[in-house]
Amino acid sequence: MTSLPTDADLRALHEKYAPSQAAFELVHTHCEIVRDIALQLLSVNGDRHALDPELVRVGALVHDIGVYRLFDADGRRLDKERYLRHGVLGHEILREEGFPERLCRFCSCHTGVGITREDIGRQGLDLPVADYLAETGEERLVMYADKFHTKSTPPSFVSADAYSAHIGRFGAEKAAAFEALRARFGEPGLDGIRDRYGPGHGRATA
Ligand SMILES: [Fe+2]
Repeated sequence: MTSLPTDADLRALHEKYAPSQAAFELVHTHCEIVRDIALQLLSVNGDRHALDPELVRVGALVHDIGVYRLFDADGRRLDKERYLRHGVLGHEILREEGFPERLCRFCSCHTGVGITREDIGRQGLDLPVADYLAETGEERLVMYADKFHTKSTPPSFVSADAYSAHIGRFGAEKAAAFEALRARFGEPGLDGIRDRYGPGHGRATA
């Protein structure tokens, strides 16, 4: 693949792997919201970050594609116990589809604020032992933007302070990693994005 896929290409990819319309709407809409948050942050601080907005767009739209592999056969129930694996599952899907490593990595390296091999050992996580850390600026921005929206029931937006409190439970270094991202990229304005996606994607619980 030489040029980056379009939004329509990536929508078709979601449709290919989604086991149900509900799963598609949950995951694809979340990915669109993460794209919008990331691009908004980039437009506010674009010069300072000097990142490639096209790469950010694609990374955001693919980052959760692996979630589809965690639904049951009729696409209704998500296997929350194995949810942590969605990143490596997405990496596998994109590799099978012929995507380059730099795009596959958006899937495997966006979870939390990064997962290290030490985390896997210490917490007994159900993942192949490796470091899953955002390395490029684009990977970091997608990982960060993802923290502001959650595919809960109903899906909801998350404030920086709420995420900070959540991640702090996993240790001081995780909280510090989030604060470093917050200092680098700033906080997104979520109201316009919430209005764009409407009920079911955060209005009720924000
Ligand atoms: Fe996500």
